[in-house]
Parts: sequence; structure tokens; C-alpha cells
Amino acid sequence: MTATQQKPDQSRMLPHAGRRLPVLKRLSGKLLRLTLLFGLLAEVMIFVPTMADMRMRWLSDRLNTVAAASVVLAASDAKDVPQSVQDDVLLATGTKAIALREKGASRLLAVSEMPSKVDRHVDITVTDPITVIRDAFDTLINGGNRVIRVYGPIGDTGKVIELLTSDKPLRNAMLRYARNVALISLFISTITAGLVFLAISRLLIRPIQRMSANMLAFAQSPDDPLRIITPEEREDELGIAQRELADMQRQLQRTLSEQKHLADLGLAVSKINHDMRNILASAQLMSDHLANTSDPAIQRFVPKLVRTIDRAINYSQTVLAYGGTQEAPPQRRRVKLRTLVSDVEEMLNLDAKSGIEFNNHVPESFEIDADPDQFFRIILNLCRNSVQAMTGDTRGDASVIKRLTITAGQIGTTSIIGVEDTGPGLPPKARENLFTAFKGAARSGGTGLGLAIVHELVRAHGGTIELRDSEGAGASFEIRIPDQPISLAEWRSRRDSMP
Ligand SMILES: Nc1ncnc2c1ncn2[C@@H]1O[C@H](COP(=O)(O)OP(=O)(O)OP(=O)(O)O)[C@@H](O)[C@H]1O
Ligand SMILES: [Mg+2]
Repeated sequence: MTATQQKPDQSRMLPHAGRRLPVLKRLSGKLLRLTLLFGLLAEVMIFVPTMADMRMRWLSDRLNTVAAASVVLAASDAKDVPQSVQDDVLLATGTKAIALREKGASRLLAVSEMPSKVDRHVDITVTDPITVIRDAFDTLINGGNRVIRVYGPIGDTGKVIELLTSDKPLRNAMLRYARNVALISLFISTITAGLVFLAISRLLIRPIQRMSANMLAFAQSPDDPLRIITPEEREDELGIAQRELADMQRQLQRTLSEQKHLADLGLAVSKINHDMRNILASAQLMSDHLANTSDPAIQRFVPKLVRTIDRAINYSQTVLAYGGTQEAPPQRRRVKLRTLVSDVEEMLNLDAKSGIEFNNHVPESFEIDADPDQFFRIILNLCRNSVQAMTGDTRGDASVIKRLTITAGQIGTTSIIGVEDTGPGLPPKARENLFTAFKGAARSGGTGLGLAIVHELVRAHGGTIELRDSEGAGASFEIRIPDQPISLAEWRSRRDSMP
């Protein structure tokens, strides 16, 4: 493999890494546009009623001025008011005609040239907002060339003053006002949007950008402790998120280093296994030679030796052939459990000095549907644990009973096997990490693999294993292995062969 091949292609692993987002797509760009938009929206919502109000004030001012002038005009008989005076009043008040209504009678105070038609009538006392806003829009959109009649009461006098005027000056005033308000609104919303943006950017966007940059950097090199985010001293949700992220990154690094450790260990085990198989093969050859010697003492132990070496070779081979860290699927057969347990007893080689009593209580005829080699390993691991616990427990006190008992029974098609000892029972660490590889070891020299292997093998048989409550009163494991489903013919032949 070349140097370039060895280096992982980071950009392919992380599609977003190193890519800078266009300004408009960035969170800050979106936020700026939205604040500006909402600012303008708020100004428009204020602008509409303000504009309607301005129109009403304009009309009301005009009406008040006309009312003041009408006092002078009404003082004399209209016929006596010279036309030139009337024209002056009309010009000064910007109206076309002025009338006064009193006690049901209307009196024309000044007129120069009566318009042929009146386009709109405005009652100055109407303040209903919908009507006022609608009329304001009407003036802005359709006005400019119309004659309007405006009327309203003069204080509490009971008189009503009326005027006819063109709506052009009103509309022009409204347009000027609208332009000014729009400019001021734009200015205010720009300033507000800018301030809101700066505040949110400092409070939210920068920390979020920092977190996302950190995530990308961490993803590129998750085993680098320097890439763990340093959380800010803040109590809000972002502070919590940063602290959680830092915890997650630390946890991930721990898991990664554990996995790397396990992978290294797996490779080491494979290597050991590989060469162990070769060494065992030589031992097998030698034991074959031993079998040919005539010494009866040697003849007695040679078959056990051969069987033990065979088992070891077999196991080495399946591990290598199957690869990985998982066990090979069980090759299930009908197995005489009592014999298998006896083999385990022999393997344990318990002498009188150990003081351990081994009770094989499995009935002679008891059969179990299991992989013989795997089930041998299950019982051996459990028994070896018991022996180790009882040997290390008493410091040579001969009065303490050390008993290891194997029992077996059947419920329906499920075999129940018990492995029970009178040792000290499982320490808390072992119980808390029961069946978890490498974690439950609580004795010196233990690797914490035995029970995990047992668990995996039992599960591979579709069975269960549990530790019965054993605190301080020895350890007691119960294994349940269901028989494999069998054909009716096989069931009949088994039933017939039963004693
Ligand atoms: N019968 C038992 N009595 C008391 N403690 C036990 C018994 N069986 C297991 N333990 C405790 O459980 C721990 C885990 O057992 P396990 O067989 O998984 O690992 P180990 O015996 O420490 O190492 P190894 O991988 O060599 O078997 C042991 O270290 C031991 O403390
Ligand atoms: Mg063990």
C-alpha cells in the first residue's frame, strides 16, 4: 500500500468538512434578513393607522379653521357679505363652499362656484378604525381629483359646519407624510435589525458556529484529545449543549481507545492461537508415541492426554477458521452430560490437598442436546472459577467445606444444569459486570473473560444462564438449554430407546 493510499480521504469521509457556506445560506445571513423583514412589518403595522389618523387630523383642522371663519360670516346676513370677501375666505381656507346648519336649516355662508357633484362625504365624528383606514387608502389610491364634503359639529353649540373642498391638497399632504414615515421606518428598522442581529449573533450564532466547527474538526480526528470542545462558562441551553458535547466526545474517545485495545488484543490472540496450534500438533504427535509404550502407568493417563490435546487443537482450529471474535455456531449432538462432567473433573485434576469435593450429580442417563466441545468449555469455565474461588478463599483452613456440585434435570424439552459451590460467592464487581468481557475480573490474575465466554456459548445454544442469588453463600449458576426442535420420527426413536 502506498503512502497516499494509507491516508484516509477526509473530504470523502466528511462531505461538509472544509466547505464554507454562501453568505445567504449562513444562519447569520438568514437571521439578518428575517430581522429586517420583521422590523419593516412592524413599521407597516404602525404606519397604516398613523396615516389614517393623520388624514382625520388634517380634515378636522380644516373644519375648525372654517368654523372660526364661519362665525364672522354668520354674524351678518349672507346676502350682505360681498362676493370678494367670500372669495377671500374660501381661498384662505382652501374650500369651495361653506355652509352652516342650525336648528334643521342649512345656510350657505360662502360659495364661489358650486361644484356639479360631490364625490365623498366625510363625517368628522366617525372614528371607527376600519372605516377611517379604508377611507385613508381610498384617498391615497383614488383621490387627487375629487370633491369632498366634510362636516362636523362646532363644539357644543349644536351647530354643524360643512365645507366642500378638493381632496388634492389632502392627498399631497398624505403622500408627503407617507414618504417621511417610510424613510424613518426604514432607518429605525435597519438600526433595530442591526442591533438585534449583533446581539443574537454574539449570544447564539457565534457559539453555534464554534460548536459546528468543533464537530467537524473532531470528526476528522476523533482520537485527538485536543479536539474536544472547551465549554464556555454559561448557564443557558448552549452552555448545556457544549458541556454535553464535550462529555460525548470524551466518551467516544474512551470507546474508541477501548475498541482499538480490543482489536489489538484480537490480533494478538489470533497470532498466539495460530502458533499454539502448531505447538499442540507436536504435542499430539508425542502423545501418540507415548500411547505405544507398554508402561501401564503411562497407558492410564495417555488417553486423557490425547483427548485434552485433541480438544485444544480442535478449538484452535475453529477459532482460526471462523475468525473474528465470535464463536463458531454450535454443532449440536446428543451428549451424555455425566461423562462430559467427568472429563471436566479430570481436567481440573483436583487432588486431596485441594480439599475440594467434586460432586457429579448428573444422572447416568441424562442427555443434553449441545455442541460437546462448547458445552465442555461452559462447564469447565464455571468449575474452574469455583475451584479458584474456593482455593483462594480459606487460606488453608481445613474446617471450611469446599464442595462443587453439578446437577442436571429436565423440564419438558429444556435441560437445566446447575453448577454450585460453597465458596465466598461473587464479589460485587463481578456481579455488577456479570458476563461482560474484561470488566468482571475481581481476582488477581483473572482476565474477566471466562463468564463472558460461557454466556456467549449458552446463548448460541438458544439458552440462558443466570446467577442465582448467591451473596455470601457460595456461587450458584443455572443454565437452561432448550433441545433443538426434532422430527416426529426422531422423537419416537428416542422415546423407544429410553430405558
Ligand atoms: N464461583 C465463583 N465464586 C466466586 N467468585 C467468582 C466465581 N465465578 C466467578 N467469580 C468472580 O467473577 C470474576 C469473573 O469471572 P470470569 O471467569 O469471567 O473471569 P476470571 O475468572 O477473573 O478470568 P478468566 O478469564 O481467566 O476466567 C472472577 O474474577 C471472580 O472474582
Ligand atoms: Mg474464570
